[in-house]
Amino acid sequence: MKILVVGSGGREHAFVWKLAHSRYVTKIFCAPGNGGISRQAECVPIKADDIQALLDFAKKERIDLTVVGPEAPLVAGIVDEFSKSGLKVFGPSKRAAELEASKNFAKELMKKNGVPTAGFVTCHSVEEVFAATDRLGLPIVVKADGLAAGKGVIICETKESVEQAAKSILVDRLFGDSGNSVVVEEYLEGEEASILVLTDGEQAIPLASSQDHKRVFDGDRGPNTGGMGAYSPAPVVTAEILESVMQKIIYPVLGGMKAIGAPYKGILYAGIMVTSQGPKVLEFNVRFGDPETQAVLARLDSDLVEAMLWTLSDDREPPKLKWTSRPSVCVVMVSGGYPGNYETGKLITGLPAVGQFKDVVVFHAATKMTDNVYLTDGGRVLGVTALGQDLKMAIDRAYEAIGLINFDEMHFRRDIGWRALKRLESVS
Ligand code: AMP
Ligand code: GLY
Repeated sequence: MKILVVGSGGREHAFVWKLAHSRYVTKIFCAPGNGGISRQAECVPIKADDIQALLDFAKKERIDLTVVGPEAPLVAGIVDEFSKSGLKVFGPSKRAAELEASKNFAKELMKKNGVPTAGFVTCHSVEEVFAATDRLGLPIVVKADGLAAGKGVIICETKESVEQAAKSILVDRLFGDSGNSVVVEEYLEGEEASILVLTDGEQAIPLASSQDHKRVFDGDRGPNTGGMGAYSPAPVVTAEILESVMQKIIYPVLGGMKAIGAPYKGILYAGIMVTSQGPKVLEFNVRFGDPETQAVLARLDSDLVEAMLWTLSDDREPPKLKWTSRPSVCVVMVSGGYPGNYETGKLITGLPAVGQFKDVVVFHAATKMTDNVYLTDGGRVLGVTALGQDLKMAIDRAYEAIGLINFDEMHFRRDIGWRALKRLESVS
C-alpha cells in the first residue's frame, strides 16, 4: 500500500516510523515532513492545510491510505474531500472535528449526554465573563472557543486576571475569530492523563494511556507549550479509571455524535483530569497527541495500518492491539525561548551516536537537512524516545541519549515522568 502522512512534527515522524514496520506498506510519502522524516519517507513540499494540493497529489500517486496528523486539515474538511473522491483517509469528518474546533460544541454535547466535565458558561462579553466568575467562583479557566494552537486556555486566580483574559480574547481578539466567544469553566483539581481511543463511530479501542507535560520548565512551571514530554502507561489511569472513561465519557460521546448525524471515526483523544470524583473531561482532540503519540506508538506491537483501516471498514470485529509491557518515555528537546521567540538554523550534533542506542529512537519534530547535517527548524526540535524494563530505566535511557545530543541554546525538561515515579514509589 502507498501511504500519505500529512504533517511535519514528531507525531508524524512516529507515524512514518511505525507505518514503515507494517507488512502492508510499500511506500510512504509525507507532506510536508521534515529533515528526520525524509530519511524514512519521501517528503513532498505541500503544506498540511493545502487540501486541494494534497488531494491532487493523492489522486496522482494513487495513495491507498492518508493519515492526517494535525487538527487544522481535519477541521477544514480533508476527510470529506478525500472521501468524496473515493480516497481512504484516517480521521473524523469536518462536522465530527467540531469536537476540537469548538469548545462550546464539545461542552454542549457533553452536557446533553451526561459526560462528566467541569461546569461552564459560554460568554460573549467581558460582563458575561464576570457574571460567570461570580457564579462559578475563583480560580476559574477562560478558554477561547476555537482553535488557538494550544494557547487559548488561561487559568485565572484573581478577578484582575479574569478581566485581562476576557479582554485579550473577546476585545483585543488575540486569537481572531477563535475568540468570538469564550467558555468559562470551573477549575478542576487532580492529575491529568491522555486517553486516546481508536473508533469506527460505534466501538472504541483504547490505546495505551499516557501523560503529557505541558509546562515549559521543571516542576510544571512556566507557560504552557505543545508538550515537553510524555510517558506511557500513565499509572494514574488504573483499570477502573479506564473503564469509567470508556463507559462515562467515550461511549456517550460517540453515541451523541451519531445521534446528531456526525458519527466520529478515527482517533478520539480525551484529555482528562482524574479528580476525587472520578475522571472529568478537560478537552477533546480529534487527532493523535504530540508528544503522546511518540511514547504510545513506541509500545505498540500490532500493525498500525490494520488498526487504522478497521475504523474505515464495515468489519464489526475490532483488532486486538498488542502492547509491550515495557514503559516508554519521550523527552522533547526545544529551541531556547520556546514557546516564545526562538532562533532556528542551529547545527544539531550527536544524532549518529544515539542511532546506535538500543531501545532509543529520536523522532524529529522540526529539523531540516542541509548538506548532510541536521539544523533546527522550529520550537520543538526532537523527541528522544526510550523503552525500559521499568519507567525509571526508560527515563534514564532517554536522558543518557540526550547527553550526547547538542545544539546551541537547546532546552529540555529534566523531570519528565516525575508524577508517575512518585506514584510508583508510593505503592512499592
Ligand atoms: P485544554 O487545551 O482545554 O486541555 O487546556 C490546556 C491545559 O489547561 C490542560 O491540559 C490543563 O492543564 C489546563 N486546564 C484546562 N481546563 C482546566 C480546568 N477546567 N481545570 C484545571 N485545569 C484546566
Ligand atoms: N500534547 C497535547 C496535544 O497534542 O494536544
